[in-house]
Amino acid sequence: MREAVDAQARSAISLRGVCKSFGTQRVHDGVDLDVPAGKTTVIVGPSGVGKSVLLKYILGLMRPDEGDVLVAGESVPRMGFQALRRMRSSLGVLFQGAALFDSMNVYDNVALPLRERTKLKEDEIRPRVMEKLAMMRVEGSAHKYPAELSGGMQKRVGLARALQNDPRIVLFDEPTTGLDPETSVHIYRLFAEIQQRLGYTALIVSHDVPRVFRIADFVAFLKDGHIQACLSPAELKNSRNPYVRHVLHLDLE
Ligand SMILES: Nc1ncnc2c1ncn2[C@@H]1O[C@H](COP(=O)(O)OP(=O)(O)OP(=O)(O)O)[C@@H](O)[C@H]1O
Ligand SMILES: [Mg+2]
Repeated sequence: MREAVDAQARSAISLRGVCKSFGTQRVHDGVDLDVPAGKTTVIVGPSGVGKSVLLKYILGLMRPDEGDVLVAGESVPRMGFQALRRMRSSLGVLFQGAALFDSMNVYDNVALPLRERTKLKEDEIRPRVMEKLAMMRVEGSAHKYPAELSGGMQKRVGLARALQNDPRIVLFDEPTTGLDPETSVHIYRLFAEIQQRLGYTALIVSHDVPRVFRIADFVAFLKDGHIQACLSPAELKNSRNPYVRHVLHLDLE
């Protein structure tokens, strides 16, 4: 009990006994997960297991039938409109495809959150946009349109935009979709470097096993409606959990 309370205190995000059904399909059946603050946690699991739905609870876009979802200790399902808005503004989101606006150049895409959510003037916005573009090493492409960028560059611009509000938590859903394995490794390395520099909590949903494990502080395995195990990379290698070993393609003894 005491351990559970301590874990929750250090957690940026906690899921407690989360259950959800869509019609007769029971997607989540008691999901418990603590996402430690300032670390990178990766959620892996088969397609359709309910990974993206977990991120939707955290964003307050979907509500569990039972259980609770806490962000910085506050229950998301119980938040009112204002609290939800405030909580969302502390999150950065990078979903599949980077979701850049095709009709805007890179600069305008990255400036968008500041123009929409702050009263900053253009001469105050400019250094902030250029700082994030430089951090993601795409400052030379500020004038380009998304269609003129490589897949990897689009993801980097997507993260530059997601970081514009200096989020405490950044959620990633399949951030390397569509990239070749080598570019995926570069992107993960850069994302890990930025996470360590800025110190936000990263929660990454990924199919990219085992590549994504390189940057994980913890890997959570979602299957059959709950988290089967949540392990550090060092613990992974020695895990005797049959499902973990199956994912890692280790032979069962
Ligand atoms: N709004 C919805 N209405 C009905 N069913 C839904 C809804 N959203 C998700 N589901 C179902 O819940 C299950 C989990 O969906 P989710 O998108 O979380 O899967 P996932 O683990 O992210 O899969 P993938 O790896 O393919 O992205 C799926 O079977 C999906 O069909
Ligand atoms: Mg998904």
